[in-house]
Amino acid sequence: SIQKTFVMIKPDGVKRKLSGEIIQRIEKKGLSIVGLKMVRISKNKAEELYAEHNGKSFFKDLINYITSGPVICMVIEGDEAVSVMRKMIGATDPKEALPGTIRGDYALSKSENVIHASDSEDKAKREISIFFNDEEILNLNIQT
Ligand code: CMP
Repeated sequence: SIQKTFVMIKPDGVKRKLSGEIIQRIEKKGLSIVGLKMVRISKNKAEELYAEHNGKSFFKDLINYITSGPVICMVIEGDEAVSVMRKMIGATDPKEALPGTIRGDYALSKSENVIHASDSEDKAKREISIFFNDEEILNLNIQT
């Protein structure tokens, strides 16, 4: 079924100028960009995004890193977009991520792993709402 998911090119991905390549992969796969913005994430939003990791050993480093530079936030829509995007980005640990996946091809560190994508439809809804208002998301069913 048609789903929306939240995808974010992390600070290392933006800094390394991988954004075009990543967007090209998403588009070539046939998924649609229905929302897109470049932002510097506030500490509050970072802690909201990663709430489930609060208390873990790497939480502070994760918040510092994700707020260290601009990120590109996207809402991606398509058939089974949540699981398809997760497969395209590859495993969290880039040493485990298979070649052909975004992390497998471009990342080497568990914290600086280039890209994020929601791991469930519920999380996608939550994460999209942290960064986008309804008016900032295209409705593909309406001609404008
Ligand atoms: P992501 O899947 O986007 O969301 C949680 C993030 O925590 C994960 O990417 C990693 O970038 C980050 N992280 C940093 N250190 C670790 C670690 N030791 N184990 C798991 N995740 C980590």
